[in-house]
Order: sequence, then C-alpha cells, then structure tokens
Amino acid sequence: MKSTFVSARLLVNGDRLNHSIAHLAQIGKLSTGGVKRIAYSAEDIAARTLVQTWMKEAGMAVRIDTAGNIIGKYPGKYPDASALATGSHLDTVPCGGQYDGAYGVLAGIEIARVFQENHIFLTHPFEVIVFTDEEGSMIGSKAISGRVINDPNYYTRTNGTDIFSCLEKIGGNWQNILQARRRSKDIAAFVELHVEQGPILASMNKQIGIVEGIVGQRRFNITIQGNANHAGTTPMYMRQDALVAAAKVVLAINHIGNSPGQQVATVGKMQLLPNAANVIPGWVEMSLDIRDLSSSHLDSLLVQLRSQLEDIAKETNTQIRLNPALNNEPALAKDYIQQEIAQVCKDLQLSYTHLPSRASHDAQELAQITDMGMIFVPSELGISHSAQEYTSPEQCIQGANVLLRTLLKLDSLKSAYFEDGSIPN
Ligand code: GLV
Ligand code: MN
Ligand code: MN
Repeated sequence: MKSTFVSARLLVNGDRLNHSIAHLAQIGKLSTGGVKRIAYSAEDIAARTLVQTWMKEAGMAVRIDTAGNIIGKYPGKYPDASALATGSHLDTVPCGGQYDGAYGVLAGIEIARVFQENHIFLTHPFEVIVFTDEEGSMIGSKAISGRVINDPNYYTRTNGTDIFSCLEKIGGNWQNILQARRRSKDIAAFVELHVEQGPILASMNKQIGIVEGIVGQRRFNITIQGNANHAGTTPMYMRQDALVAAAKVVLAINHIGNSPGQQVATVGKMQLLPNAANVIPGWVEMSLDIRDLSSSHLDSLLVQLRSQLEDIAKETNTQIRLNPALNNEPALAKDYIQQEIAQVCKDLQLSYTHLPSRASHDAQELAQITDMGMIFVPSELGISHSAQEYTSPEQCIQGANVLLRTLLKLDSLKSAYFEDGSIPN
C-alpha cells in the first residue's frame, strides 16, 4: 500500500506550515501585539474563509455543518469508511496569541497538502475540523458529540447577541443544530495538535507532550443583586452593596482553588452597575471557571461553594445566583493512541513526556464519541491566552510531523479491519 511505503520518510513542508501560521495571524492582529478573533466576529469569519480556500486547494471537499463547524475531507481509498480526524479552532480570546487553535487547524491542512502532492490516499478519509467558538461555549464540538444544550438562551453571548444570528453568519443553523451530531461510526479516531499553554514541556526541556487526559471544566455566570443607593446618605448598616458581596465571593473562590487538591478556580471577568463613584453598586455579574481532572471532586467543591455563597448573601443582604455557562467533562486519551504517538517520537528522535492537559480542548468533546489523542508542543515560558504566546517554527514543524506520522500509524492499525474486504461502519 502506497501510504505504508511513504510513511517511513514522509514529513510536512515546514516552511509552508510556518508561512500559513504567520499569514493567518495577520487576520485580527492587534496593534498592541497579539490576535483578536472572537468567535463570529468579522475577523473570525475572514479567517474561516481563508482556511476554506486552503482546504480546497489541498484537495479537500469542504462543508459547514449546522453548528458552523468547517469540515474539510480529503478522500481515502474507501469513501464510506469512518474518517481519521484532526482539527482545532480559529477563534481566540480577546487578546490571544497566534498558535492557540490555529496551529492545530493549519497543521491538519499542511498534512492534506502533503498527501495531495505525494498522491497519498489513506484507507480512511482524512478530516480536518474547525470547531465553532472553542473559547466561549464550545458549541461546535458539543454539537458533534451530541452534548449541545437545546436552549438558545444558554448560548446568548454576554454582548447580547443571539445564537441564531451568530450561527447564521458562519453558515450554521440553530434550528437544525442537532443534525451536526456525529456517531462513533463516522470518526475512527480524533487526534488534536495544540500548543501546551503551560510550562511543563519547556521546564522539562521536552519536545513533545503526549496528553493523558483533559481536565473537566465548569463555568458559571454569578449574578449578585444588591441595591443601588446614594453613597453619601445611606448608612453603612443599611447597605446592600453588590460589590462588597462580590469581593467576598472572589475570596471564597480563591480559597477553594487553594484548598488541598489539584483544582484551579478563577474569577476572570466582572461587570458592575451602575459603576459610578457616588453610587453603591447594585448589581454585579462575574464569571467562575473551575477545573479538575475528577468530575466528582468538582461536584464536591461546588457544593462547598454554594453553601459559602448562601452565607455571603445573608451577611451582605444580597441575592447571589450561580448560573451554569459551560460544562466540559474530563476526558481520557486512549492508551493505544498515546503509545503510537510515543513510538512516532522515538522514530523521529524527539524527546517526550506524558502529561495531563489543564486547558480545555475540543478533543475532550470528541472523546465522547470516538478514540481521542492529543499532542502538545512547548509554549515558551508556559505563556498562552496572551500576546506573548510563542512556539518556535522548529517546534511547530516537529509537532506537525508527529501528528502526520501518528495518523499514518493509526490508518495502518485500523486498516486491519479491512483485511477481509469489509468496510467497518
Ligand atoms: C480554553 O482555551 C480554555 O479555557 O482552556
Ligand atoms: Mn485552544
Ligand atoms: Mn484558548
């Protein structure tokens, strides 16, 4: 089989990959450094358009599902066989770097280019998926895994934009979002390549990270209703100060993050009303992001937090509500995929270590429907979600080669099913 022969020496075109990364980073580039491509924004749409062009040039058939996910499909020898898939996201946080998400998508397209120019057709079709709104709701990968919440209000963005118009702008359709769901028979395995976004690989001087599992993440909007009143005439004992309550809530959350265990807990966003120097704050809304590898540990921390919030509400004479905004279950990478990645690292003489991912990724949703693996490359100083995010061109090439070789190995491994001439479905 041609792919087996070629796999012994096949590599990505590193210059072409790094050129694509630099080119895409121009879309949404901030004058202060960093990249801003919020999901559904004009910049996100421009990036999606460019990437679709690149997919088509690489010989992929491109479709957009009802959740707005872009799915580029490079044909395999058996068109009806389940796909081997990779992918990531193009949206960024408000001031992000050029690698988080985009790197995984562009490495996938680079692999399709390599297949195209070498006339390689795997047994399985090869898919590159651009997931919708990874940094916000993860609605794209949740729609694919069948875990999208069937309530449009859940996905209304903090700026008030409704999910109907957001999805329409990118070619999706909320009314039919459940149709984006895919089944185990559709995807034989999913392997995502990503920058580590943490300090482990850089500090251990390892070139590749093999992800063992991805933390669970729960996000909430916390609202605190107090009473806006005159800052001069309202005696201290009569106040219902939402910001004072919020300050206590932030400290309670930080305390939970610091309690024994590996969990982290963050308040990253806060708004108050009316936000005037001479008015007691009457209303606060803030985020809670809490993560751990164990779902039951997260549950018990949240029970503790709810009871503390009740105490704070009583003490400050306010009403505090915890509204769910995101629920990502922890997900384990398959052992056999980790072993294949490790073997590829040995073949390419790259140093590696196994590690958990403490960031969320679309791969954890894909793990609900198929076998999942993840490959990390180092992030300089462990910095990400920042204009300072940096991974060297050489490291980007190394990671893409590991992804390419891993896909080839998985194709061979899973092609054993085809020996009797049957196509698994
Ligand atoms: C996604 O980038 C996350 O917050 O982990
Ligand atoms: Mn990411
Ligand atoms: Mn991110």
